[in-house]
Amino acid sequence: MHPGAGPEVKSLESEQQAVRMERLNLIGEAAASIGHEMRNPLTTARGFLQLIGESAEGQPLRDYFNIIINELDCANSILSDFLLLSKNKSVEFNLQDLNSIIQDNHPELQAEAEKDHKSVFIKLGSIPSLMLDKKEILKLIMNLTLNGIEAMKPGGIITISTRTEGDQVVLSVKDTGKGIPPHLHDILGTPFLTTKESGIGLGLAVCYSIAARHNATLAFITGDQGTTFNLRFPAD
Ligand SMILES: Nc1ncnc2c1ncn2[C@@H]1O[C@H](COP(=O)(O)OP(=O)(O)OP(=O)(O)O)[C@@H](O)[C@H]1O
Ligand SMILES: [Mg+2]
Repeated sequence: MHPGAGPEVKSLESEQQAVRMERLNLIGEAAASIGHEMRNPLTTARGFLQLIGESAEGQPLRDYFNIIINELDCANSILSDFLLLSKNKSVEFNLQDLNSIIQDNHPELQAEAEKDHKSVFIKLGSIPSLMLDKKEILKLIMNLTLNGIEAMKPGGIITISTRTEGDQVVLSVKDTGKGIPPHLHDILGTPFLTTKESGIGLGLAVCYSIAARHNATLAFITGDQGTTFNLRFPAD
């Protein structure tokens, strides 16, 4: 995909998005049922462990209980992401100012980047209000930003920007990282696809799923100077 994409590249992008979505929808249907079914026993087990850990008899083993509880929390957070792939996930759309959402969360994103000696800049253009599920859009921005942070060397910069392009509103997350290797381009967004040792591979799948629920397209431009993800909201 190239900068300044013309109509041909755009139609290729929407074709690729359709293929990605078909793949996601298959998994999404299973995600909802499996996710819910697994969550209940995990929650019950966590509750009892906490109870025992806090009792007098449980005191000597308290540290172990805490480790197990942390591990259960990890599993739960993977399930939460997996549930976001569910096709029929409930959404709460409200007319929102995307710029304010970005501005309000800039300190948290910057703090995340600083831990790794990187920075997050924002460049907000004049855009109309949009029908958004705020939690979902934040999750998308967070996932793209984290991927950017993970792809860059110390000193790297993420730029989150908004603008209007024709009658579309575009949200971009740009990094100065190593770029996405070509062999991943077509399969990006497949759940559990990861090149990271500690990655789960759900970040982008969740982003594509959120984009689809917003009727928006998500596409990327990448090279050895870095990667930009563009989320395009349709015109009203
Ligand atoms: N901005 C980026 N620059 C370079 N590579 C990227 C970028 N974003 C994604 N990738 C590649 O795509 C893969 C999938 O990304 P995704 O966010 O879905 O999963 P992950 O980051 O590996 O794990 P998770 O997000 O679940 O912690 C990554 O492992 C990485 O190889
Ligand atoms: Mg990720």
